[in-house]
Amino acid sequence: MSFILITGNAVLDIVNGVDHYPQEDEEMRASNQWVGCGGNAANTARVLAAHRHRCDWAGVLATNADGERIANSLQAAGVGLEHASRQAGTSPVSCITLNQANGSRTIVHYRDLPELSAADFCQIPVERYDWLHFEGRNVAELEKMLAYTRDNIFDQPVSLEIEKQREGLAALIPLVDLVMFPRAYAQLHGFSDAESFLRDQQAKYGSIWMTCTWGEQGAWAIDQLGVVFHAPALKVEQVVDTTGSGDVFNAGLIHALATGQLLEEALHYATELAGRKVAQQGLEGLM
Ligand code: FRU
Repeated sequence: MSFILITGNAVLDIVNGVDHYPQEDEEMRASNQWVGCGGNAANTARVLAAHRHRCDWAGVLATNADGERIANSLQAAGVGLEHASRQAGTSPVSCITLNQANGSRTIVHYRDLPELSAADFCQIPVERYDWLHFEGRNVAELEKMLAYTRDNIFDQPVSLEIEKQREGLAALIPLVDLVMFPRAYAQLHGFSDAESFLRDQQAKYGSIWMTCTWGEQGAWAIDQLGVVFHAPALKVEQVVDTTGSGDVFNAGLIHALATGQLLEEALHYATELAGRKVAQQGLEGLM
């Protein structure tokens, strides 16, 4: 068991399962609906807690009813909230249309809540943790959080998820040990395969471990020597729900590496775990 700090977002997800993706201006019925805790960091934290790590989440929780609901589900999943910052305001909400024909999830996200400040983060005794993971957002504050972390830890691994293109975010890569990218980010940068994308990122930002998930093709990783590994996607009978599959991959990777697996082994484990996730609804039982 490791003691892990996950910093980033917790969101209320309102998911409507539909039998086809709606046309614009269509009125349709959802076949089912569920409401629960989401957000990349919160999802990763829940799956790590299910793997029996002691896991704390750092981020902002609104003091409204949705914030209570999010807090309750994180706590019920065993995630520690000692470093959650409670602020007046509205919880971020994602309205997710889940196409049950192919598992695709279309997310409309609304947010009107301050981000976690570096001033709050820098109160956290980071040296206590065995692993520290950050969601790549709120770049100016994140840079200060990473600098504080580096100044206060010994040699614990620091990982960073870079999901979206954000001004200045890539420049933070040299501050961490492992970066997780998704296919969409590589494609946005003009790459049509993970290996050339990862080689390009290493050429730009240094010999840092990096991974890139690529949906039905599985995932790739590159180590500090530039050796590239590939793990094929798990064959699943039906893709049911892809919501949070990247967050689950990240949890699988952190779990495997924190428990002493090699990068290649960890990549296989994370890819398999993400494959199990897309074959089911929600995050329950992913361990
Ligand atoms: C899935 C997810 C959802 C959340 C959205 C936030 O990766 O974390 O749970 O609503 O992304 O952008």
